[in-house]
Amino acid sequence: MKHFLLSLVVIVSFSSAPVLASNDGVSLPHGHWSFDGAMGTYDKAAMQRGLKVYQNVCASCHSLKRIYFRNLADLGYNEAQIKTIAGEYTVEDGPNGEGEMYDRTARPSDAFVNPYANKEAATYANSGAFPPDLSLITKARSGGANYLFGLMTGYDDAPEGTELLDNQYWNKYMAGHVIAMPPPLSDGLVSYEDGSPETIEQYAKDVSHFLTWAAEPEMEQRKRMGLKVVLYLLIFTAVLYGVKRRIWANVKK
Ligand code: HEC
Repeated sequence: MKHFLLSLVVIVSFSSAPVLASNDGVSLPHGHWSFDGAMGTYDKAAMQRGLKVYQNVCASCHSLKRIYFRNLADLGYNEAQIKTIAGEYTVEDGPNGEGEMYDRTARPSDAFVNPYANKEAATYANSGAFPPDLSLITKARSGGANYLFGLMTGYDDAPEGTELLDNQYWNKYMAGHVIAMPPPLSDGLVSYEDGSPETIEQYAKDVSHFLTWAAEPEMEQRKRMGLKVVLYLLIFTAVLYGVKRRIWANVKK
């Protein structure tokens, strides 16, 4: 029995919550996400709102090149809806029979369209700071969704004595506190159809939810598999324990 309990303790300690600290050690706000924990799942309504925030705000500077329109099925959209969403974008294709590149309406099999032709153009348009691709951003920064949520809501006046250049802003959660991204969100900026509050905080939560999915679309599957494995191991441990007792039952001490 002792071993059985020990394995339980090991399993429970592995599933404890991650430490919430950004790169600078500033403690991050906690978004209380539906995807937290061993049985967490994504919230489709939140992801749909987050997609809207990305499309209307972030997409003018940040690419999302690893996400294809067809992937939006995970957000609860059907084929026709995905076609409509893709249809709002134009992509360059080709070359055609005459060797020319040409523009056409995007299809579900296309990826999200990069707002800039290349990295240099993106950096030049943003006064020397490159807006990173957001496909894997929640994986690329410690704190993940909580960091993103903090970053979106962490703009403030610089403390006295801090000098900022024209294109610099003070942010509580950015490493070094100085960021070249102007505060992207403001209350009422994006209209929501489901009655959710149109506030910076809600936009920040929704876009962080959406981008967490973008970085890890297979999370729900991974967690389900993890639970099955743990359950299997628990049962197997109990069986082995029973077998061991049986085998050693007649051995005198
Ligand atoms: C006007 C252009 C612009 C818009 C709009 C914009 N960003 Fe940015 N973003 C930038 C630039 C430029 C940087 C690089 C900042 C730096 O390196 O200091 C950046 C950096 C970032 C980073 C990386 C921060 C880090 O830790 O290095 C994240 C995350 C981010 N943006 C998310 C977003 C999200 C989410 C939105 C939409 C709500 C958004 N951005 C809208 C220009 C923009």
